Amino acid sequence: MSLTKENDPTTPEEEQRLINFKNKPDLTQIYNLYDFEYVARNTIPSTAWNFYSTGADDEISMRENHAAFHRIFFKPRVMVDVSRIDYSTTLLGTRTSAPFYISATGFGKLGHPDGELNLTKGGGKENIIQMIGTLASIPFDEIADARVESQTQWYQLYMNADRELTKSQIQNLEKKGIRGLFITVDAPQGGNREKDMRSKKIDQHISVKGGEKNDRSHGVSVAATSYIDPSLNWSDLLWIKSITSLPILLKGIQCVEDAVLAAQYGCQGIVLTNHGGRQLDFSRAPIEVLIETMPVLREKGLDVNFEVYIDGGIRRGTDVLKALCLGAKGVGLGRPFLYAMSTYGPEGVEKAIQLLKKEIESSMRLLGVTSIDQLGPKYVDISSFHSRSVPADKLYDKVYQPLTNPPFKNSKL
Ligand SMILES: Cc1cc2nc3c(=O)[nH]c(=O)nc-3n(C[C@H](O)[C@H](O)[C@H](O)COP(=O)(O)O)c2cc1C
Repeated sequence: MSLTKENDPTTPEEEQRLINFKNKPDLTQIYNLYDFEYVARNTIPSTAWNFYSTGADDEISMRENHAAFHRIFFKPRVMVDVSRIDYSTTLLGTRTSAPFYISATGFGKLGHPDGELNLTKGGGKENIIQMIGTLASIPFDEIADARVESQTQWYQLYMNADRELTKSQIQNLEKKGIRGLFITVDAPQGGNREKDMRSKKIDQHISVKGGEKNDRSHGVSVAATSYIDPSLNWSDLLWIKSITSLPILLKGIQCVEDAVLAAQYGCQGIVLTNHGGRQLDFSRAPIEVLIETMPVLREKGLDVNFEVYIDGGIRRGTDVLKALCLGAKGVGLGRPFLYAMSTYGPEGVEKAIQLLKKEIESSMRLLGVTSIDQLGPKYVDISSFHSRSVPADKLYDKVYQPLTNPPFKNSKL
């Protein structure tokens, strides 16, 4: 059983969160994705908040993922007929209503009793692709069966050391109509997510895949990822390609050399991502890796039939457009959809998608483009991009209290 608002043993903090939840603003008062985050921070069970919001170590990469977008500016064109805007596009051969997708995240039931089904329902209503995670808290078959007819689903795979298990898993994905296999390659071990590690009550509430061998003493993240095969390497790709006809993409590429290798090994694409800053802290923002990667892929002729996606820190329509201008085929979002579903269920997910679409539409109009294929490097100024600076004023999330029960009374520190 997972921790939900209904069954959480009451502590004063959780009680307050529950009261906040009941008094949360109406969806009509939500104007952007940050609003969902604000509501979630104050209302969802703290175990869910800590697991969803945490980054690794000092959360530098997590914040840089979004901050990096602030160093890119637009060069809009004017006097263009922008009365009609079409932001639909094709991702891995499927037509979709907008150039973003719901990225794979685990443990949806921590935040909402219906877990990942909220993402399926909200995504289905808006014709947005859902990437289902290996660690989803609802069984895969149930999520696949819940999709509406025209909806596209992808699957994020953590390679299990038991290859026979992986093989039957992949065969089932094919049977269930999954249209893309994203193998996560940035998690040979779980990141050091301290906010999550300090979460209490994990043992009695969370069942994790992989059985009793899992280490349950260090938060949801470690408990969930301890079965992942750390021996995964490039030669395994040949085996995976031999057992499936699904498009194979590597999720977690963080430098141009590995992007080139993925193309040379015959992958259909990659996701440039650092796992939302949850793995190696100080790994660079995906948008930075994109800027480095696309020219090299083009120069080597490897950009044909090879789709490059990014995720991490995308919160605005302008972030989406910047990524597309710089060569991404599409972008993924993780936390914003978790916050939306935990607070408002499927309607929250729908609203989050609508808000992002609205921002994309109005920003395209103001940029002077009418369709996705018109976006390109000429619309962005990246001349100051590489003056990267790390925010050192606050090492942690403002609400993160390292010790929830401070042992030092009257400390002057
Ligand atoms: C709570 C949470 C769980 C996640 N679980 C997984 C996972 O099981 N597998 C995976 O490949 N990525 C996982 N991710 C990473 C996301 O797929 C995505 O890369 C990341 O969330 C993008 O960053 P954003 O949250 O800033 O949008 C997770 C992210 C979060 C926030």
